[in-house]
This record gives sequence, structure tokens and C-alpha cells, in this order.
Amino acid sequence: MAILIITLDGPAGSGKSTVARLLAKRLGLEFLDTGAMYRGLTAYCLDQGIDPVEMTDEVVELANDCPITFDWASDPPQLRIAHRDVTSRLRDPDVTGHVSDVASIPQVRRVLVEAQRRIAREHPRLVTEGRDQGSVAFPNATLKFFLDAQPKVRAKRRADQLRAAGKSADEAQILEKITRRDERDANRKDGPLICPDDAQRIDTSELALDEVVSLLEDLVRHRLEGDLADEDLGSDFIWG
Ligand code: DC
Repeated sequence: MAILIITLDGPAGSGKSTVARLLAKRLGLEFLDTGAMYRGLTAYCLDQGIDPVEMTDEVVELANDCPITFDWASDPPQLRIAHRDVTSRLRDPDVTGHVSDVASIPQVRRVLVEAQRRIAREHPRLVTEGRDQGSVAFPNATLKFFLDAQPKVRAKRRADQLRAAGKSADEAQILEKITRRDERDANRKDGPLICPDDAQRIDTSELALDEVVSLLEDLVRHRLEGDLADEDLGSDFIWG
């Protein structure tokens, strides 16, 4: 079976997770949410009373000692840290507030990038999304995309998501937090948020979710058509 790794990087609220999951479905590939790995580790640290700013050695120790795995039988795959399902904690405000601290620890990034590569070896037909998937984790990926959107649009999307989940949302506050997190993600030394030279940048500000997924699906099919024969893409890869 041919290896097929598609990377999708971009800032918070660019719609990467949803787009990556739907794109993977349409193409018959698996989907890896690497932000969930950083969030899961953050939740686990906080629940163990480890302060991600003051106790970085302990955070690194946890990252090294606790297996981070996904249950691939569920859709989307559920994250487990040290065999505990932490899915319900991933979007909690304390986790969102501290995840950049955890993600900026270089030793943590090394452990998680290695875990992502191991996952890709076990699931070699993958859409993987994050900040450094095309630049650091999979520099030789088959195809790379960078999704972006104006900060205001991203804040509105996050607010809509929260409201749809029955939670209250202050768009101005979300915008401030998104901007701060982007700044931290873009300015850290290790695995910063960048658009790799060989990635295709897509501004989704004016596009609906379904339009983004369809655009990416068309681009993938178009780009792969010349390189790979149908049978290389597996029986579940239907050509449009
Ligand atoms: O995509 P997200 O909001 O779930 O990401 C959560 C945090 O993890 C965000 O601050 C960026 C960080 N992250 C990262 O540094 N590298 C990745 N590959 C994925 C996420």
C-alpha cells in the first residue's frame, strides 16, 4: 500500500481539525489531530497538579513516561494518555489557557513529534493537522496545505462552535486569546507555526466549511492523479 501523508497546518480557529477530519473521510484516509495530543498532555499535567510554567521538568517527565495513544476504532479517534480517555477535557478553558506553555517546551515537542511519526508508520495513509506537521514532523509529506483566515473570522468561528455546544462566548475575548496564542505559536524556537515553502496556502476567510473541504479534495485528487495509479490509492479511494 502506498504511503500517503497529507499535512494541514495553520493557526487556531482556521478550521483545520474539522476540515482535516472531513477531507480524510472523503479520501478514505485516517486523520490525526496533533493539537489534541498537546491538549491531552496539558490536561493530564493539570490534573496531576503540575504547573506547565513552573514545573517544566515534570511536564517533560510525564511526556516521556505516559503513552499517548488513540483509539482508532472510534470516530474521530479518541485520545488516551496513560490509558485514560481525556477527550472530555481537551477543550476546557484551563487546558486551552495552558496548552501553548506545554507546546513551547522543546523536549515535549520532540517526544510528541516522535509519537506522530510512529503513528504515521502504523497508519501510513493519513491526513495530519497541527502547526508543524509539514515543516518538522513530515517534511517529506506527499502534500502540504496551510489553512489561514483573518483573525476576526477565526474568532467568530470559535464563538459559533461554543454557542452550538450550548456555551456562552465573547467574540472579543476569544479574538484576544487567539491572537495571543498565535503569537506564542509563531514565535517559539522549536516547531513554530509557519507555512512551509512547499505548502499550498489557502485563505478560508470567505469560504464555508464544505467549500474548503471540496477545494482541498479537488486539489489532492488533481495533484495525485499524475503521480499515483488508482490501485496505489487503495480500494476506498474513489476518483471523482
Ligand atoms: O489546534 P489546537 O488549537 O487544538 O492546538 C492546541 C495547541 O497546541 C496550540 O496552542 C498549538 C499547539 N500545537 C502545536 O504546537 N503543534 C501542533 N502540531 C499542534 C498543536
